[in-house]
Amino acid sequence: MDAAKGIALVASNGGTVHDYEGANRIQRPLPPMVFIPSTAGSGSDISQFAIITDVRRCVKMSIISRTLVPNISIIDPLILGTKPKDLIVSSAIDAFSHAVESYVSPIAFPLTETQSLKAIDLIIRYLPQALKSPSIDVLEQLAIASTAAGMAFSNASLGMDHALAHSLGGMLDVVHGLVHPVLLPPVMRYNLPVCEEKLAEIGKIILGKRRRTSRSTALAGIEKLEENFVSLRTATRLRDIVSDRSTLPQVCRTASRDACLLTNPRSATWEEMLELCEEAW
Ligand SMILES: [Fe+2]
Repeated sequence: MDAAKGIALVASNGGTVHDYEGANRIQRPLPPMVFIPSTAGSGSDISQFAIITDVRRCVKMSIISRTLVPNISIIDPLILGTKPKDLIVSSAIDAFSHAVESYVSPIAFPLTETQSLKAIDLIIRYLPQALKSPSIDVLEQLAIASTAAGMAFSNASLGMDHALAHSLGGMLDVVHGLVHPVLLPPVMRYNLPVCEEKLAEIGKIILGKRRRTSRSTALAGIEKLEENFVSLRTATRLRDIVSDRSTLPQVCRTASRDACLLTNPRSATWEEMLELCEEAW
């Protein structure tokens, strides 16, 4: 879908796709786009984002513009029934990260927050069911979750987990959906001092109840989330998805220039991100 966005962009605006890296740099309208997503995760079928890998610079470029929202999306959960389970899991966790990061984004607002929370709730409830018995009704709930999360991050953007995921994907070709089970929980802990109440709201959904304080609800929610990732048999340590530890400083320097880092609720230098990655190793 992002390749289609890139092709449509260059066909109508000229130049190369690199000319449009960043936000709001597209001047002319794009030809009509009709998308049929084949996973429940990326949200590209609803978002104003296109992520294109520049293989020469080894970076994933974020191109952000309202004209990148397709005219029509046909979201059919029947297609999800043809997917292997590991792809269902990594896509759903990507959508989960979209929901969490858009929810705590400093530019979130009530309409995006509602979509984010809806997506979090649906994925927590239906992902385990989708793995046990992937009925069309259950897959439909994941498709709705992915679309809701896509609508939320299209307007409220993302955060540090995605900045690092883009950098790891561009430099080392790490599969996008495999990064979040490793880095989303530490990023949530890093953000805790500045968005305790919002992370408690997420914790309440994950746990099914609140603890005594917002802080303890948020922390217990993050811990439970990590347990969920372990039970889904995804990689949970950075060493499981990155082979060479010495690449981490460059990964973090590149992530510090990613547009998603601008909307992480707590600012971070590349050295602070490196510390977080070292702890996740
Ligand atoms: Fe993503």
